[in-house]
Amino acid sequence: MTTLGTPLSPHATKVMLLGSGELGKEVLIALQRLGVETIAVDRYENAPGQQVAHHARTITMSDPAQLKALIEAERPHLVVPEIEAIATPMLEELEAAGVVRVIPTARAARLTMDREGIRVLAAETLGLPTSPYKFCNSLEELQAAIDAGIGYPCIVKPVMSSSGKGQSKIDGPADVPKAWDYAMAGGRVSHGRVIVEGFIDFDYEITQLTVRSVGTDGQITTSFCDPIGHVQVSGDYVESWQPHPMHPAALEKSRQIAKAVTDNLGGQGLFGVELFVKGQDVWFSEVSPRPHDTGLVTLCTQHQSEFELHARAILGLPVDTSLRNPGASAVIYGGMEAQGIVFDGVDEALRVPGTDLRLFGKPESFAKRRMGVALARAADVDAARTNAKLAASKVKPRKA
Ligand SMILES: Nc1ncnc2c1ncn2[C@@H]1O[C@H](COP(=O)(O)OP(=O)(O)OP(=O)(O)O)[C@@H](O)[C@H]1O
Ligand SMILES: [Mg+2]
Repeated sequence: MTTLGTPLSPHATKVMLLGSGELGKEVLIALQRLGVETIAVDRYENAPGQQVAHHARTITMSDPAQLKALIEAERPHLVVPEIEAIATPMLEELEAAGVVRVIPTARAARLTMDREGIRVLAAETLGLPTSPYKFCNSLEELQAAIDAGIGYPCIVKPVMSSSGKGQSKIDGPADVPKAWDYAMAGGRVSHGRVIVEGFIDFDYEITQLTVRSVGTDGQITTSFCDPIGHVQVSGDYVESWQPHPMHPAALEKSRQIAKAVTDNLGGQGLFGVELFVKGQDVWFSEVSPRPHDTGLVTLCTQHQSEFELHARAILGLPVDTSLRNPGASAVIYGGMEAQGIVFDGVDEALRVPGTDLRLFGKPESFAKRRMGVALARAADVDAARTNAKLAASKVKPRKA
């Protein structure tokens, strides 16, 4: 039996989000609706999720001492990482000491915080198909790895980065030094280690949202959302849609891979498993042990969005992953560097049939910062994609 408390009372059910961006904001809203007391943590003030939570805290989450002090002071029932750059060994320590439960597990947060932990687990421990890869600590090692079998084209990524930062494609020997320099400049922490991956010439890529929740028998059960198709530009998602049509054999393989990875990571919650598909072949790429940016589309396609699914699963509540209607999402970038920007054309955007909008409320805009997303539901994915892009194009960010 799950019992939930009253927020701001001695019996509140308290959940702390580590990272309070646009994805965390939606998780927080889902938790708020269930009367959960929420604590939104981020590295800067007025982060999107902090604007909708009961409490806002601003710390450096990669600093173990600050993280420990905050968790011990707040004593949340659950700690929910929303970003990768967290002092995960400290979370493991606190979890082992019984201080807090980390979602889905502290180990999952650690393994997925850099590309090495999760890739070694998937490819070497679980034997799942992945691109050929090698980890390198210098330009010389990178060149040697390519020459020894990775070949061209290939992709270089800092082991610690997300959203395509520091990532580039190498088409021939001339590109190798600049790919190395770019990776060194774009990594989250400059510890000079990259992964080089053979380029997979996939037909399409999907996100397989996978939920581990408590079933009627009290045991953990795994459920799958319909596949989400997406387009990435320089490693950052610009458009997604659901459902993405798939050959039944490829869908079956995708779910087997998703099940194997999420079984191993364990715990309760929603995961975003990124997969490449060519014909009936499927490769594992990476996994987020939390809602996925391409899954923003589920805000307009599923009975329960990925954020509601995450909130329910972590609280031990039943989930429904079924699709309601086809839909699409299109990202709205800031397009400029400025504080407190305004958005023109919101009315015109919402006049596009079947559309909705999320403006995240980020205090500061950058040219390539995701500031909002347009959502569109329609009778089919093609119509939804057209309308999502149209709605997104009507929203015009500008300096105030
Ligand atoms: N080995 C590969 N072969 C072909 N394309 C690839 C390969 N690796 C990455 N890509 C492309 O680059 C995109 C981003 O790669 P990846 O997901 O590893 O980076 P990321 O920085 O973690 O991005 P995000 O945080 O947005 O998921 C992939 O979605 C895919 O489109
Ligand atoms: Mg990715």
